[in-house]
Amino acid sequence: MNVSDYISYVTVGRFDRRIRTRLLATITLLLMSVNVLLAAESRTLNDGVYTKEQSDIGAILYAEHCILCHDKKYFRPVLKRWEGQPIGILFTVMSASMPESNPGFLSEKEYVDILAYILSLSRYASGETELTYEGGALNSLNIEPRARK
Ligand code: HEC
Repeated sequence: MNVSDYISYVTVGRFDRRIRTRLLATITLLLMSVNVLLAAESRTLNDGVYTKEQSDIGAILYAEHCILCHDKKYFRPVLKRWEGQPIGILFTVMSASMPESNPGFLSEKEYVDILAYILSLSRYASGETELTYEGGALNSLNIEPRARK
């Protein structure tokens, strides 16, 4: 709406309806994005958040770079301790400080694949979508106990 449109709407007394329509559209948009956020937040480790291919790659990397100090059982209590926190925390810790002898040696993708393998070691089910660090995805994915079937 340009200025003269605006003036004529004001003077004709019809701007009210126009603004109401716009407000409604804005509110609808807001509600939709809140929904999207909630949907993203309610995804959990039990929703098949990594692929089998990913954890297979992660297994090779783990054997090469991590198993020396962390046997396959090491991460079970670690995951337990971090319950309720986003998995992004573990990603940050490992990508910034591991392997201890050579922190940050691997690529972000490789750390994510290792994380997928760690999830498979705790027997979280794999799924159709890859685990990814992009767009802060790991920060809306909370660590929760594995669902038993
Ligand atoms: C040379 C030994 C060594 C290697 C290799 C190593 N780590 Fe570690 N890591 C440690 C030590 C020491 C700690 C401190 C906690 C502890 O003593 O268990 C630790 C802690 C961690 C933690 C934090 C656990 C917690 O309690 O929150 C993560 C995550 C981790 N390592 C991931 C990895 C990953 C992934 C790799 C392979 C890329 C790796 N580490 C390789 C020695 C190592």
